[in-house]
Amino acid sequence: MKKSIADLDPTLLAGRTVLVRADLNVPMEQDVISDDQRVRASLPTLQLLMDAGARTVVLSHFGRPGGEANPEYSLRPVAEHLTALLGVAVGFVDVPVGQGGEAVIADLRDGELALLENTRFFPGDTENDGALAEGWAALGDVFVNDAFGAAHRAHASTSGLAEAVRARGGIAVAGLLMARELRFLGDAMERPARPFVAILGGAKISGKIDVISALLPRVDKLLVGGAMANTFFRAQGYDTGSSLVEPDRIKMARDLLNRAGSKLVLPVDCVVTDRIENGADTRIVTVDTVGADDKIVDVGPATVAQFRATVSAAKTILWNGPMGVFEIPAFAMGTIEVARAVADACDHGALGVIGGGDSAAAAEDAGVAARLSHVSTGGGASLELLAGRLLPGVETLNDKDDSLWP
Ligand code: 3PG
Repeated sequence: MKKSIADLDPTLLAGRTVLVRADLNVPMEQDVISDDQRVRASLPTLQLLMDAGARTVVLSHFGRPGGEANPEYSLRPVAEHLTALLGVAVGFVDVPVGQGGEAVIADLRDGELALLENTRFFPGDTENDGALAEGWAALGDVFVNDAFGAAHRAHASTSGLAEAVRARGGIAVAGLLMARELRFLGDAMERPARPFVAILGGAKISGKIDVISALLPRVDKLLVGGAMANTFFRAQGYDTGSSLVEPDRIKMARDLLNRAGSKLVLPVDCVVTDRIENGADTRIVTVDTVGADDKIVDVGPATVAQFRATVSAAKTILWNGPMGVFEIPAFAMGTIEVARAVADACDHGALGVIGGGDSAAAAEDAGVAARLSHVSTGGGASLELLAGRLLPGVETLNDKDDSLWP
């Protein structure tokens, strides 16, 4: 277990400069944030630090600018949005540390916050450059990693910064969001109330093979949808027409089916079309009657009914990945219905945890996000955690029973 900011005596934070790594990597179009879930999820830690009278310096990456300063990837709009959400001015520091940025930070007063410009404007961030981490570490003696979405990255602003702060005698702890993510995703894996049902979707088996392997011994049922199911259909000998399939993974899918036995449940029917675009005609067919020109784009109503019945009997539900091409409304029914089924189960006392990325967006689209036990802010990070891998952004934090204090 890692130490979290909630374990610290808040009176000891007053007047200290605290570095917070958040994941403020949000979708943005022309400087307007189109989905601010990650910004909102970062607020409790920032509010705690403000209330404690800390001088808070927030770091985050935004997009993949490739190690160069590029105004398209500036975090300035996020600083403005934070200002609006917190109701206090969040200073924006676009001068790098080492070139004057530290002077701006030295002017922070107790309870004030500043956001540094995109950490990935420096090539050293993704390269986990020690000198870059050291420059940031010199700003404060407490580091709070709240960036669950970037916890699977060993970058200078994540694990590198934790190590650099600790090497200087400081401490590195999880933020409230990080702690919450680890609690929900970790507990679902380690101590699930049963029946434990996992639902996996999305395009590719290849990206989720380790997740499937890690989940199979733990779950009571593993429901599979999305284009990923197509590769399993081929492994069962069905014709999938012109649907997306990973031919080089068919053997792997066959092995998984053999290993999983009745635990792994595939769709029994699907929605097919000849064009993946708005307005295209669709038909519902059973999985053994997919035509040569058909593309499978969603699970069918019989599958939805079966998945719903399984989910409604579950006590723990973990869902990652859409059931079809849910970005196109005509192909979104299966995904939306699964989101509703999980929310209904939560209403009846089940623990429902949604991995980040597309399934989090689908839960929003279905209007059920608030009814779910937890919607993760990390897409790649939640998959890595579910696959049983250690996250560098977590591993480098102080342990719960460490008694260090700078
Ligand atoms: C994400 O959006 O998954 C995280 O912010 C990590 O971003 P990255 O994949 O560019 O490291």
